[in-house]
Amino acid sequence: MADLSLEQVAKNFGETRVIHGVDLEVKSGEFCVFVGPSGCGKSTLLRMVAGLEKTSAGVIKIAGRDVTHVDPADRGVAMVFQTYALYPHMSVAENMGFGLRMNKVPKAVIQQKVAHAAQILKLDALLDRKPKALSGGQRQRVAIGRAIVRDPDVFLFDEPLSNLDAELRVEMRVELAKLHKQIGATMIYVTHDQVEAMTMADKIVVLRDGRIEQVGAPLELYNNPANRFVAGFIGSPAMNFLQVLPRGDDFFVPALNKVIACSHAGASQKLEIGVRPERLDIDVTGQGITVELVEKLGNINFVHVVSSLGERLTISSTLHQSRGFWPRSIEKKKPVVL
Ligand SMILES: Nc1ncnc2c1ncn2[C@@H]1O[C@H](COP(=O)(O)OP(=O)(O)OP(=O)(O)O)[C@@H](O)[C@H]1O
Ligand SMILES: [Mg+2]
Repeated sequence: MADLSLEQVAKNFGETRVIHGVDLEVKSGEFCVFVGPSGCGKSTLLRMVAGLEKTSAGVIKIAGRDVTHVDPADRGVAMVFQTYALYPHMSVAENMGFGLRMNKVPKAVIQQKVAHAAQILKLDALLDRKPKALSGGQRQRVAIGRAIVRDPDVFLFDEPLSNLDAELRVEMRVELAKLHKQIGATMIYVTHDQVEAMTMADKIVVLRDGRIEQVGAPLELYNNPANRFVAGFIGSPAMNFLQVLPRGDDFFVPALNKVIACSHAGASQKLEIGVRPERLDIDVTGQGITVELVEKLGNINFVHVVSSLGERLTISSTLHQSRGFWPRSIEKKKPVVL
């Protein structure tokens, strides 16, 4: 267990800079999740921490030690990949102990560490099986076990659950969260999955184009996004954005022909308000509103509408039919002014 710090860390592939001077502190024992659009640099940054990619500039420290140019094996990190990368000809126990065997760790110590990890991951009964005789979730647990036996200071996960089906993902998500509690290790976890990010993270790092947009606790990002990008990225379905015009101290919403009461700091050329789908009350039978699609998930409905200005909006509702008219609920919530 150790803390990690990145200071002005940058990465170039040839002439192209893909990570631009990132600063980040991850505290000892923290579960830190990287999110961001495809290609924003999540895996690259993780691989730089692991030492699998060279760092072009800046300093990476683990437990206060500068590891920027240290060999991957000597950094005290263990990485779990999306593809489990297990050796097919080796048993579960051999797969888990492989790294230790390579490091010439005594056999008895390996056995004891493998048994301990197998117990944590409920793999005790499967130690003699080959990977082909395991389910996807079990294989992923072996890959995690391989990381655990190494006793790393920092665990690095790159979308470890994305090859699993929905049910297994939920199961493994809960198991990983429990594992984190149990061993209290520092973990960095890359995911595309909003639910994983929101439920597992102590701290979420939102990346875009190789830069950090915001770092914070999940609900901090949800309730107080620093900018429009984070507002639109965190939350599923995504936040709605509506064009508004200042009218005195209030806003006029042309698409809905409504005025909403809200003071705003300094008018810029183009103003928008952001409203979460669960905060948006629209009379869907109102003039100029077209309902495009209603997705009924059983416990919740997502109503997709198009405003008279052509803005696509999503309203989420457990009881849509009984909801009132715009803008009752958004008056209760401070909108994001951009
Ligand atoms: N070996 C490489 N050579 C050149 N460019 C690369 C290399 N690896 C990654 N890149 C580029 O670096 C950028 C960041 O890639 P990276 O794989 O870190 O993204 P990501 O956020 O993990 O995306 P995804 O969510 O799709 O996994 C991308 O533009 C990618 O094309
Ligand atoms: Mg990636």
